[in-house]
Amino acid sequence: MAIYSTERPILSSNENKVGVLNNAEGIGNCKIFAVANQKGGVGKTTTTVNLSAALADLGKRVLIIDLDPQGNATTGLGIDPRNFDYSMYDVLVHDIPLDNVVEATNFKNLFVAPATIDLAGADIELVSAFSREMKLKRALDQIVDDYDFVFIDCPPSLGLITVNGLSAASEVLVPIQCEYYALEGLGQLLKNVQLVKANLNPALEVTTIVMTMFNASTKLSTQVVDEVREHFGDKVCKTIIPRSVRISEAPSFGQPITVFDPMSKGSIAYKCLAEEVLSHG
Ligand SMILES: Nc1ncnc2c1ncn2[C@@H]1O[C@H](COP(=O)(O)OP(=O)(O)O)[C@@H](O)[C@H]1O
Ligand SMILES: [Mg+2]
Repeated sequence: MAIYSTERPILSSNENKVGVLNNAEGIGNCKIFAVANQKGGVGKTTTTVNLSAALADLGKRVLIIDLDPQGNATTGLGIDPRNFDYSMYDVLVHDIPLDNVVEATNFKNLFVAPATIDLAGADIELVSAFSREMKLKRALDQIVDDYDFVFIDCPPSLGLITVNGLSAASEVLVPIQCEYYALEGLGQLLKNVQLVKANLNPALEVTTIVMTMFNASTKLSTQVVDEVREHFGDKVCKTIIPRSVRISEAPSFGQPITVFDPMSKGSIAYKCLAEEVLSHG
């Protein structure tokens, strides 16, 4: 992964984007994934950040939209909430253009639309808003041609923020932790995806399931993978993300695992996952 520097990039995200428009490869072909699972702690943010970074490393222009008020995708990429004026809250609630919010990261080809704790109020503030489910979709339509991939890191709930994520996406990526009760509550997510598909976004499909935090030393992990494969067949990615301390350490250094420890097994797994996602066309 090429790194501009450890400082914030000199180019602003807007200047940086001039190059994009000349990059015919990305135009009109953007894949937009909502990364969703209403359970917390299953690897949504970790997968969003590291898969995005691995795709960026392969030369794809990638935008992460942080829709979680926790802002873990934002801070995990070294973006300091004190350094920006607008965030996803302003996009959803005050109709600020997404372009004004996107920040370049220290990592080539990787951009983030940051979230702060303000976003926690958006679920309620949006209730009376016109076309409240389509706010993100409308905002994203304006800039989607600038990117090859967009990953929307959804919060662990099925409220209006997640509905905005699902309405704006073309595909849903569901990370599932290799633990007991992995499938618990998943029916609710799938039902919501069907509701959004029926009412707001006919093209929406769950296309990609990523097994995370696999522990090779327990039978349980293997059993969970088998069970999920039985349910979801070839939607389950061949690449399985191992449990690795290095993966959990990387965010506190503001780096994806592919930069923090490129040769670690977690980094290699996310690079394989990126190749797999690319090969899905
Ligand atoms: N493969 C992994 N190995 C070890 N720790 C992981 C792995 N994936 C995620 N984690 C850790 O598990 C916790 C929850 O992951 P996170 O991606 O934040 O989940 P979510 O976004 O679904 O709430 C975080 O502390 C993260 O660092
Ligand atoms: Mg998260």
